[in-house]
Amino acid sequence: METSALARRLAARFVAGDTFADGLEAGRRINRENIAVTFDRLGESVTSLAEAEAARDEYLRVIEEISHHHVDANVSIKLTQFGMDISETACRANVEQLVRRARDRNGFVRIDMESSEYTERTLRMVNDLHAQYETVGTVIQAYLRRSEKDIETLCRQGIRVRLCKGAYLEPAEVAFQAKSDVDRNFVHLMRILLAAGTYPAIATHDEKIIQTAKDFAGARNLSRDSFEFQMLYGIRRDLQRRLVAEGYRLRLYVPFGKAWYPYFMRRLAERPANVLFLARHLLRG
Ligand code: FDA
Repeated sequence: METSALARRLAARFVAGDTFADGLEAGRRINRENIAVTFDRLGESVTSLAEAEAARDEYLRVIEEISHHHVDANVSIKLTQFGMDISETACRANVEQLVRRARDRNGFVRIDMESSEYTERTLRMVNDLHAQYETVGTVIQAYLRRSEKDIETLCRQGIRVRLCKGAYLEPAEVAFQAKSDVDRNFVHLMRILLAAGTYPAIATHDEKIIQTAKDFAGARNLSRDSFEFQMLYGIRRDLQRRLVAEGYRLRLYVPFGKAWYPYFMRRLAERPANVLFLARHLLRG
């Protein structure tokens, strides 16, 4: 798959390009449409601390460039890219450098949520860093059974949360399996966040849920700049434009870099139609 030209071409729909220059160009284009950006330098599950440090240095550069070029953007990171599987201490030190630099440059670091084996450690680190720096927030996945408790804690601590459905394969003990249960929990958690969260981010392309968010915010007279919607680069451009035209805040998650494979696989898994299309062409070719 990784060497297939077709897979690469398809992945290009979801990824801004191989380099930060590509990401920056996409970010500026997106900003011109009144949409903010969060940059993701692709890469996860590194196997050496040298790789983790290289990722950290690249992200430090990204934070500098965002500030230098006045791009309306922040960064999203994954802890396994900074050595979480090797040493939690080293990972924390790497991430702390990013969060501190973001604070110094008026930026913000969003710590993405990976599979459930990392949830507890991720929340611990976010909590710990947030006690020292305000420029860090995280992600909660609606498919996890534990998420309501986590959201309540994060709301109390004033930590910024992005709510998403969840993109990893999880067992029934930890995660709702039926899409209807995940959607129901998303709406439930979203209401808690909109009512009590700190500048929450509602990350979904689900039109029904987005409408529910608008209705809830409208009924409570929440101002349109007290929360934001978030979507992924390359998905539902029509819906993106509509939200912005209606005066809602929107941020796009813009990945760049060469390590596109795991990210692309998660995007495929969300849409069986994408997999079928790809499989047909791979078999033919
Ligand atoms: P759903 O899957 O129900 O899709 C709703 C509609 O969106 C579909 O009908 C289709 O129109 C469109 N759509 C969705 N996915 C598509 C795809 N791949 N290709 C084409 N169309 C598609 N997950 C996680 O576990 N940890 C994280 O940190 C993050 N971070 C994150 C940031 C942002 C900004 C977003 C938008 C999403 C994430 N996610 C994530 C991913 C998230 O968990 C989820 O897998 C995807 O957003 C897809 O779910 P939807 O909410 O869009 O709903």
